[in-house]
Amino acid sequence: MIKARIVGTGSYVPKKVVTNHDIEKLVDTSDEWIMERTGIKERRVAERGQTTSDLAYEASHKALKAAGIAPGDLDLILVATTTPDTIMPSLGCVLQEKLRAKKAAAFDVYAACSGFIYGLSVANAFIKSDTYTNILLVGAETLSRFVDWEDRTTCVLFGDGAGAVVIQRHAGKRGILSAHLHSDGALGNLLYVPAGGALHPPTHDTIHKRMHYIKMKGNETFKVAVRALEDVVQEALEHNKVKPEEIDLLVPHQANMRIIQAMAKRLNMPLEKVVITIEKYGNTSAASIPMALDEAVRAGRIKDHDLLLLEAFGGGLTWASALVRW
Ligand code: UT7
Repeated sequence: MIKARIVGTGSYVPKKVVTNHDIEKLVDTSDEWIMERTGIKERRVAERGQTTSDLAYEASHKALKAAGIAPGDLDLILVATTTPDTIMPSLGCVLQEKLRAKKAAAFDVYAACSGFIYGLSVANAFIKSDTYTNILLVGAETLSRFVDWEDRTTCVLFGDGAGAVVIQRHAGKRGILSAHLHSDGALGNLLYVPAGGALHPPTHDTIHKRMHYIKMKGNETFKVAVRALEDVVQEALEHNKVKPEEIDLLVPHQANMRIIQAMAKRLNMPLEKVVITIEKYGNTSAASIPMALDEAVRAGRIKDHDLLLLEAFGGGLTWASALVRW
């Protein structure tokens, strides 16, 4: 049976650390509030001039090295991002040039925080249809450029970073077992950036009204997220006829520690079986799962044949789950 298998991982975060205490100086908030409501202690922020493609490049380089292949071997580059360097060209194309991956086709997957699992599903389909053999999938974001540093309801949440995986065609039982994707455009107004697209192109007025920044109805998003994630995880378990106790490691999107804990409780999993990076990095959107995955790999937390459950929820709204036999 042909499977799409992750054969190398890598991640990268900017060096600059912004702590909750640093943010206390910008808006009316406190370390206690942020820790208690989100589990975030600090986040990384890109330096001036450092772009999403720079972070993606570093993570990709490490993933390629771990996989033991060269950029020239890649057939396809997929980048999950909502914060590309430019609207055009795509971040995929910018990264292709930086890597000098001349043979690879490249494009972006645009599904906010669920983007990495959406990308995993696209990679899986290309491998199963025998279209490509070596795929680089990257989740990369510089959300610090799109948060309103005067809005305490959002600026405390997000961070910058990138994670990458190399996915290859393999015969056997190891690899992506399933990916389930969902969207609900009717709830798009819970988490969005009002301007900068064709609806409201940039004008002095859109800038004056701070319309180029992320807006979120946090509490409503939270409630939808918990319900939707429970459903999509259940879908993955039923589809694969897997019981929660068979899962070796949960690799969740890192949006809120309370959402992660709710999922672990629902699956009756101790937190030792959950990869948690939110305290250090905050919510890095599409980058959070591949960053967490790489951290777990490098810490020796994943053994061959382990069963991994991935889940994510984000703007769109979008949500998704995947089961992976490592
Ligand atoms: O990754 C994409 C998907 N994103 C998510 O899934 C995020 C989901 N949402 C959340 O994580 C949480 O809803 C938040 C962390 C964003 C907010 O936590 P909450 O417990 O839902 O708080 P809330 O929005 O209901 O706000 C409670 C209070 C409000 O004050 P009042 O109206 O009760 O007086 C807020 O104004 O907390 C206030 N507040 C803050 N206080 C101090 C909001 N942000 C802050 C802040 N510091 N940074």
